[in-house]
Amino acid sequence: MIKAVIIGLGNVGTHLSRALQQSNQVEVIQYLNRSPISENELTSRIGLASLDKFTHDFDKIKEADMYFIAVKDDAIEEVIDSIPFQQKIVAHTSGSVALSENAKHQNAVFYPLQTFSKQREVNFSEIPICIEAASKKTLHVLESIANSISNKVFYIDSIQRKQLHLSAVFVCNFVNHLYHIGENLCTSKGIDPQILAPLIQETVAKIVDLSPQDAQTGPALRGDQQTMKAHLETLKDNTKLQELYQLISASIQEHGKKL
Ligand SMILES: NC(=O)c1ccc[n+]([C@@H]2O[C@H](COP(=O)([O-])OP(=O)(O)OC[C@H]3O[C@@H](n4cnc5c(N)ncnc54)[C@H](OP(=O)(O)O)[C@@H]3O)[C@@H](O)[C@H]2O)c1
Repeated sequence: MIKAVIIGLGNVGTHLSRALQQSNQVEVIQYLNRSPISENELTSRIGLASLDKFTHDFDKIKEADMYFIAVKDDAIEEVIDSIPFQQKIVAHTSGSVALSENAKHQNAVFYPLQTFSKQREVNFSEIPICIEAASKKTLHVLESIANSISNKVFYIDSIQRKQLHLSAVFVCNFVNHLYHIGENLCTSKGIDPQILAPLIQETVAKIVDLSPQDAQTGPALRGDQQTMKAHLETLKDNTKLQELYQLISASIQEHGKKL
């Protein structure tokens, strides 16, 4: 068993902790988070019965074979550098941060490609885990851990991961932002936004069978100028949304031409 410490118990650290507790390859010997977390919170978040395995004091970090770094992107290098032991496997969980070049450690990446929120359950076995390591030996360790918690393990280097993360921002974060705008447009006219739920579900479901390009519908693709003009008129008090509408419509038309 690989003895591991998980640093950062935010959205990813919380879900990764739960998943690794089920792994037959890893024993998590310590959970470390910069801010204190109450015993009750730790129990409900990651099932810890006591504070014994938890610390918020970086000086109390235990020696382990491996460290998972699930902290915000900007703090990753600083946290890696603060690990006081030498030549340990240190894997961050970010989609956009390159493999560390910290000479003290065996650097690696363990990036779960999913959107995580603490309050929402996920099925880790279905989550693609993108692994990368500075050496074959380390990659092999990561591979066995990743395979123990997921059925979808991919070797993705830093350049590919950057592109993958960019892609994820478009298909997840931007799309979710558009859901938010749709919700606001509904509520501002007294419509329950739940009415959009079947439409959202079908939009997601149909790209399993059709490519996103084939699945595209709507006034921009059809070139329905009157409808688009009417939409822009409705948005006349919100120039930012008008701009967004025009930008996305132009992009749909541009991509549609490639049919
Ligand atoms: N959320 C996702 O959907 C997702 C998916 C895949 C990968 N990731 C990656 O996973 C990593 C964590 O993301 P997250 O969503 O879990 O973030 P999060 O929920 O915002 O949690 C951030 C964590 O970083 C800690 N932290 C922030 N600044 C720190 C510092 N200077 N020193 C030490 N710890 C610090 C926070 O500690 P405090 O509690 O003290 O603030 C917290 O534990 C990021 O690299 C992110 O790119 C996220």
